Amino acid sequence: MCGIVGYTGPQPAVPLLLEGLRHLEYRGYDSAGLAVVSANGHLEIRKAAGRLDRLTESLKVAPIHGRVGVGHTRWATHGRPSDENAHPHTDCTGRVCVVHNGVVENYRELRDQLLAQGHHFTSETDTEVLAHLIEVELTELPEASDGEGPRLLTACRKALDRVEGLYAIAAVSLDDPDLIVGARSRAPLIVGLSAEGNFLASDVPAVLGETRRVVRLKEQDLVALRPDSVLIVDRYGRQRERAVDVVTWDRTAAEKAGYPHFFLKEVYEQPEALERTCAGRLVDDHVVLPELSGLDVESIRRVVLTGCGSAYHACLMARYAFEAWLRLPVDVDMGSELRYRDVALDPSVLCIAVSQSGETADTLAAFELARAHGAQCVALTNSVGSAITSLADHVVYQHSGPEVAVVSSKTFTGQLTTLLLIGLALAERVGRATPVSLQKVVGALTDLPRSVQEALATAQDSSRIAERHAHVNRLLFLGRGVGYPTALEGALKLKEISYIHAEGYPAGELKHGPLALVEPGSLVVVLATRSATLGKLISNIEEVRARGGSIIAITSRGDDLIAPHADEIIRVPETVELVSPVVNVVPMQLLAYYAAVARGCDPDKPRNLAKSVTVE
Ligand code: F6R
Repeated sequence: MCGIVGYTGPQPAVPLLLEGLRHLEYRGYDSAGLAVVSANGHLEIRKAAGRLDRLTESLKVAPIHGRVGVGHTRWATHGRPSDENAHPHTDCTGRVCVVHNGVVENYRELRDQLLAQGHHFTSETDTEVLAHLIEVELTELPEASDGEGPRLLTACRKALDRVEGLYAIAAVSLDDPDLIVGARSRAPLIVGLSAEGNFLASDVPAVLGETRRVVRLKEQDLVALRPDSVLIVDRYGRQRERAVDVVTWDRTAAEKAGYPHFFLKEVYEQPEALERTCAGRLVDDHVVLPELSGLDVESIRRVVLTGCGSAYHACLMARYAFEAWLRLPVDVDMGSELRYRDVALDPSVLCIAVSQSGETADTLAAFELARAHGAQCVALTNSVGSAITSLADHVVYQHSGPEVAVVSSKTFTGQLTTLLLIGLALAERVGRATPVSLQKVVGALTDLPRSVQEALATAQDSSRIAERHAHVNRLLFLGRGVGYPTALEGALKLKEISYIHAEGYPAGELKHGPLALVEPGSLVVVLATRSATLGKLISNIEEVRARGGSIIAITSRGDDLIAPHADEIIRVPETVELVSPVVNVVPMQLLAYYAAVARGCDPDKPRNLAKSVTVE
């Protein structure tokens, strides 16, 4: 939530900052702003409520120039989206300027203290206190260097010591005009190194046009960037060395590449992304996950899977596989619920937290809880070096590549596939499942990229059906077994990007309540691929039809059982039932996409949402 950028170097900063922000807009698009240190020694600030284009336009009308600057794209937490609440924020003197991603949880208390000291505020944001705290520390620091690096670095470090919450910040001060100070705590921040200056950003795509050499800052790191030097210290001011990574993917991976929307591009990238997820992990009918070799499998008595949103749905789906293969109790909880439950967790629990961004606040808190109770903790994420990795005993990456659309598609199928790989790897070690059944799943995972490719070939059907029904205002999604969480995911996608109210239900629950919603003209999407409970599902379909509801069925290719019971059919390739959600979700992603487009919604930037949910 919120994206920040910074640049210090010999080039004009504004175009670089705007380009960086363009690649961070997925993190929030309520407002945007930037500040540069101008040649005549002023902080020039421009901000605009709304999307980045508005800021870009305002800069055309009233340009600003400088070679050092910071920028921000906002997802509002404290204070409505407005020009005043847009970042950057300054202190009373106008000499310090800050952009911030995160939440200052104790900002009221800090604000009251600062007000009592005579500071005045111009926004409703929590961020503004940071600029004032830095001002206070700068005033109190002696003029001479204190041996810990630049004064602004020390001032930021001391100011952040007073802050509770999470943050990635970038700060500039007129007192040291070619310097940018960055800091992170449970929000991402990377440094981009280039011969033409140095960059700071929330995410790699923001700097990829200029450099592939990046440093992923660690928890509680602070950094002082100058055009030709980078100094990293920890929260105690001790100098730290951090590895330089060379990013292998290029910016086209974060561009639309001819697709009208990122979402559609990412849906179509799924076969390739799944190849990467499984690469080197499926060998001779076995799963190879050396990341988990240190796990004490013998001591596991229970598995707890946690995540939020689509990641939670991936956990729900994986539960069916874990239970079947491990013969262990498996609990699945949303991070936001698990973190506040008085739940029995202990060292016999294996907790797997799933978060593509690795930043989701609720998932992190739930994971910390499990860790505090001594559970063995495995993080599944798409983001190298993200906050979740620092909480984990073991990290498994899904390797789905960058996802720019706010709603997940390829990272969701990547999460689920990685969970299945983890389940298989554990099953081989605990030895409770039959080798033959595991081999079948390994075969299905090996074929998965091809199956998903074939499911994508149903796009015309999804597009036709979505356009025909784009006017409806509500929809039910039904499934049984793994089809139930698949229905939840289908409903979530549709809600998020087309704003059609949709609910996912286990089909067997229909008669216990939701059937009351069905009337002539009601539309119901049913996950009806081959499964052990298909016969029961057909009865549920008939319950809907008897009340005048229409059925859109997602069925297995070559299966004619459903045709007489459905009004419209989308046929996908058959796979092993426990793997089927990865394939079956594809037409639902496409239905949601085409419905969104038909209704004039932006599938990449749904209202009120941001990709990384770093707040509670
Ligand atoms: C839905 C979606 C969200 C995320 C959720 C968790 O399309 O994208 O529901 O799945 O916010 O995000 P991560 O996996 O980054 O923790």
